[in-house]
Amino acid sequence: MGWTRGHVLGHGSSATVSTATTATGETFAVKSVVVSKSETLQREQQFLSILSSPYVVSYTGCDITKENKKMIYNLLMEYMPGGTVIDVIQARNYGSLNELEIANYTRQIIQGLEYIHSFGIVHCDIKGANILVNKNGVKIADFGCAKWANEDVPFRGTPMFMAPEVARGESQGFKADIWALGCVIIEMAIGNSPWSNVNSPISVLYKIGFSGESPDIPDGFSPKAKDFIKKCLIQDPEARWSATALLKHPFLEQFDHDQDQNFLTCSPTSILDQDVWGSIQQSALVGSDYNQETCTSNSLRQRVEQLAGNPEKGKFRSGAEKEIDWMTIRSSCNGAVTGGDEWW
Ligand code: ADE
Repeated sequence: MGWTRGHVLGHGSSATVSTATTATGETFAVKSVVVSKSETLQREQQFLSILSSPYVVSYTGCDITKENKKMIYNLLMEYMPGGTVIDVIQARNYGSLNELEIANYTRQIIQGLEYIHSFGIVHCDIKGANILVNKNGVKIADFGCAKWANEDVPFRGTPMFMAPEVARGESQGFKADIWALGCVIIEMAIGNSPWSNVNSPISVLYKIGFSGESPDIPDGFSPKAKDFIKKCLIQDPEARWSATALLKHPFLEQFDHDQDQNFLTCSPTSILDQDVWGSIQQSALVGSDYNQETCTSNSLRQRVEQLAGNPEKGKFRSGAEKEIDWMTIRSSCNGAVTGGDEWW
């Protein structure tokens, strides 16, 4: 299928996403990276190409192009004009979504999770920045961290959304996605991720893994919503509810499924008429100054440093590279980190 690259939609943790237009005028999104750094994107292609659900961004194809004398690996997928859930939050000046909007998005995300879990796939990086929006609602995207449930691979994801068992390095199964979903619900409500007051990835992982605390549930939620979030944020992954069980929770009953079609277009704060792409920034997810943190467990510190790709003990990278620490962590088996390897 021939296509022409359009404008850049955003720079993800491992590739750049642009629009793509075919000769017949159809618009897609294309995620691209130089072939030599395309291992993660090719893995994402393997997962996306077997999935087909209204709640998962659709796969369209993949190819290799030569651009500016470089060989580029491209993953083509459905274009979602509303941007990410973070863009929705940003468009409201980091304001929150209301409970009905949150219930609708949550139901669709769980339907997506139930679907991918039924394939034996764990997403491993559920967060607002990986949930895409169109006029009908939301879909799960970015399978760059995904793994088979029984696959023995290094732990991956975004610290603030990591479940306690992942932070402790014990396991990363389906229930880790459910914990992350609980964090996304809070993110939608407060316009910021949980633990955003904690100022280093190491501190966040300690807090999540060893404090026994779950993120605070905002007061504004109804009792049903609070109970739902609590079921997502149960410390013990065995006791934490599954996607299938959560779909039957009363919090989601309040939303009439027939409203799906009109949900976003009727919203007084709809972002669909706006150019959300001009304002894409990862800054909402970037911590402030986390050089000051003191950690007491060498083993965890080393593990976090390895996850964060920092070979120098006790130091974090500074400046722009900090962002990678707060974003998706993907350590390959040899400890190398894939992150920020855009191709232009
Ligand atoms: N950003 C990342 N993937 C996207 C997609 N498929 N559509 C729109 N924006 C995106």
